[in-house]
Parts: sequence; structure tokens; C-alpha cells
Amino acid sequence: MRRQLHLNLFIHSRGHHEASWRHPSASPLPLTDIRYYQDLAQRAEAALFDSVFLADQLALGGDVAQAPRTWLEPITVLAALAVATSRVGLIATASTTYTEPFNLARQFASIDHISQGRAAWNIVTSWLAIAAENFGGTGQVSHADRYARGEEFMEVVKALWDSWAADAVVDDRAAGIYARADRIRSINHRGDFYRVLGPLNLPRCPQGRPVLVQAGSSDTGRRFAARHADAVFTAHMAKETARAFYADLKTLAAAEGRVPEEVLILPGLSPMIAETETAAQRLAREINELTDPEVGRKRLSGRFGGHDFSHLPLDRPLSVADFPDPGAVEAARSRTEVILNLVRRDKPTLRQLLGYLAGARGHFVTAGTPEQIADLIEDWFTDGAADGFNIMPPLLPAQFDLFSAEVVPILQRRGLFRTAYTGTMLREHYGLRWPTSVFDDPDFKPELRGAVAGI
Ligand SMILES: Cc1cc2nc3c(=O)[nH]c(=O)nc-3n(C[C@H](O)[C@H](O)[C@H](O)COP(=O)(O)O)c2cc1C
Repeated sequence: MRRQLHLNLFIHSRGHHEASWRHPSASPLPLTDIRYYQDLAQRAEAALFDSVFLADQLALGGDVAQAPRTWLEPITVLAALAVATSRVGLIATASTTYTEPFNLARQFASIDHISQGRAAWNIVTSWLAIAAENFGGTGQVSHADRYARGEEFMEVVKALWDSWAADAVVDDRAAGIYARADRIRSINHRGDFYRVLGPLNLPRCPQGRPVLVQAGSSDTGRRFAARHADAVFTAHMAKETARAFYADLKTLAAAEGRVPEEVLILPGLSPMIAETETAAQRLAREINELTDPEVGRKRLSGRFGGHDFSHLPLDRPLSVADFPDPGAVEAARSRTEVILNLVRRDKPTLRQLLGYLAGARGHFVTAGTPEQIADLIEDWFTDGAADGFNIMPPLLPAQFDLFSAEVVPILQRRGLFRTAYTGTMLREHYGLRWPTSVFDDPDFKPELRGAVAGI
């Protein structure tokens, strides 16, 4: 069969455009109303999307006066989406820096059971400096240390997810045996950052373990993705950098002994769609006029670890000298590179740069007809830049509805996208194999320690 696209809906605020929340066509529901998210997940499922995704930050942004977000805690939201849908994959962000591996392994394993095999974890190390103030206040962990801790975190959660064999639960009422203790093991992890005895206190997930998603783009982040990610989110403002990223990550994955086709690369795409190109551009301009450059200036500062841009005039062309060295930024280093590449290439004024970032924060933004959007998708997909896309509609739900009603059928006619789900689990939608287990080895002798405890 011809290789097919994977599509994920990134649910964010009332749309990805910074001013979407003010637009008359955006959803009237409060951003704390679970029906808003359930409705979007159901629309994504009706459009046969592989998955939906929720991002997360562990601190309130300083731009709250004009920037509403998807406030609800994402893993909790997945539980509510799981019972409102039956096929679409469910991805939530959670941090390796500010949680314990046991808690996180348990939460995602629970979601995988609740959703019958549709859970995925977007692994982040949390770049936002102020988040550290909510977790002990000892200052931000450096970029390198966050990834070092993340690496050990992955070792622990994978071992926990593999602490029950798939056949451990027998539930034999007649014989009086619920589970086979010889098919459950302690993990006895003792490392630099974590000490975890295990096993996990719930049976193996339907997917073996949740699907793993990652979005690190720095050198360290890419190597981390190559080792662990089943799908990789990434932000690009041009096809050329997306192609280079794609080639690099597939090479790194192969070097890690992975099958490159099992590391899906999904760049962000934020399309403004209308019947004609002129109408799409008019809509993009209309929403851009609702933005406040001072909000954008604050966000830019956050991206560069709190760097002060307040002295920069809005209408003078920028140069790289106006920015700190990305190598010294402890926040999301790769996104700062994306921004600096744009500054080098186009020499925008601050107002123009902020206007571009208002669209989708450094992801690819475009405006056009359904045919033009489908052409772009096909071009990136067939030209080694993407295995699919992280669709980031500028306005929700209106622009997503246009995407599913107008762009998806074109992609289907071209044989590029499924016309029905062929499986029920996210692993099946993404074309991934089930992870192997230590229990597959007939010589493996599990050790199970622990006291018998009542509640
Ligand atoms: C589509 C996408 C979604 C992301 N979502 C989050 C998020 O929810 N929370 C977060 O802290 N970082 C998020 N990130 C940031 C990444 O986890 C990572 O920190 C960033 O890409 C920089 O990578 P680097 O640290 O390797 O430079 C996201 C990145 C992308 C491209």
C-alpha cells in the first residue's frame, strides 16, 4: 500500500493564532469547559485523524491578560476525551523535570486502559524558566541536566511499563488466582536521580506502553527523540529546514538501532483556509489586526529565557545582534534558532516578526484554498520533509472544520490519507509495532519484592 499521512490535531486555546480567542467565529465555550475539548476530539475522530494533542506549561504566563490557554491539566482531560471518543489517539504533555517516574507511568498506563489503547505521552523537559519557581524554587535546571534527568526518567518509566507481563492477570475465579506473581517483577532501579523499586501497581497497558511523542530539536533533544520517540513534533518556518531536520532525525534513529519508519516526523502546520487565496489572506490580516505587539514582545522575551527586548523599536529591521546567543539560552533552544534563522533570512522589523509568531509561535503558517493546502502537504510529504502534520488551526473549531471538510477529501482522493480507521489503537494508526517485553525471554527470572498491604 502507498505510504499514507499521519494527521494530529493540536488543540490550543480557541485556535493557534494569538488573537483567536477574540475572533467572532471562535468557540463561545469557556476554556475550562470539558465539552469544548470533547467536541474537538469528536470532530478529529470524524475526520479520521490519528490523534489529538494537548500541550502544557507548569506556570501561568505573564501574558495572561490577553492570552487564554487550554487551562485544564492535560492527563485529566485525556480521561474525559477517552470516554467521549472510541478511535482517535490521545496525546498529553507531561514533564520529566517536575514529576516522579512512578506517578507518570501510572497515570499514562491508566489512560491507556481507560481509552483501550489510545494514550500517548508528549515528553517534555519543561523549558519555561518560571516553572522552577513552582517546584521548590531552587532555580531552573540547566538544559543539559534536564535532558540527563529525562534520560534516566525514560529508563525508569519503560521498566515500570514492562513490569507486568501481558498474561499476568488470569482472573480465574474457580481456581482463586487473580494474577500470576511470577509474571510481575520489581525493577530495583537505583540511579543518579531516581530510586524506584517497582513494579507498577497496575497491569500492562493495552499498547504495551503508551506511544511516546517528543519535540526536542536541539542536538541533545534530537538524540533523545531518536532514542525514545515514536512520533516527533517539530516547528519549521521553511520546507528546507524541515527536510534537513527530517533527514537528520531519521539518520540518528537508525544509528540508535531503530527502524527509521517507526519514528514519525510531524511538523506543525497552521493553515488559514478560504474559498479563494485572497479571502484566506484577508482573514489572516483581519485576525492579525486583533493582536497586541506588546503581548508578542513579552512572549518573545519568555522564549529567550527572559531577555529584555523592551528597548527595541517596532519598525526598524532586526539583526541577530538584537538577540542573545541561542547557545546561552536555557529555555527552548531550538525555537530560538528558528526565530534567528528567520531574522537572518528576511530581516523583518520587530512588528513583522511578532506578527509572524502570532500566527503559530514559530510553526509554518500559510493562507490559501483547500487545494493549495493539500498541495503543500503532499509536497512536504513526498519531498522528505514530513511523515504527516501536526495541524494547528488558527481558529477553533471553524478552521478545523474547513480542513476536515475541504482538505481531507482531497488528500483521500490522492490516496494520501485513510478513508476509514483500520485499527482501534494509536499504535495501529501510526503503524508502530508493539514493544517487546522482558517476559518474552523464556530464561527471564522475575523477582517480585514487596510487603502485602491492605488499604
Ligand atoms: C509542537 C510542539 C509542542 C510542544 N509542546 C510543549 C509543551 O506542551 N510544553 C513544554 O514545556 N514544551 C513543549 N514543547 C517544547 C519542546 O518540548 C522542547 O523543549 C523544544 O522543542 C525545544 O527543544 P530543545 O529543548 O531540545 O531545544 C513543544 C514543542 C513543539 C514543537
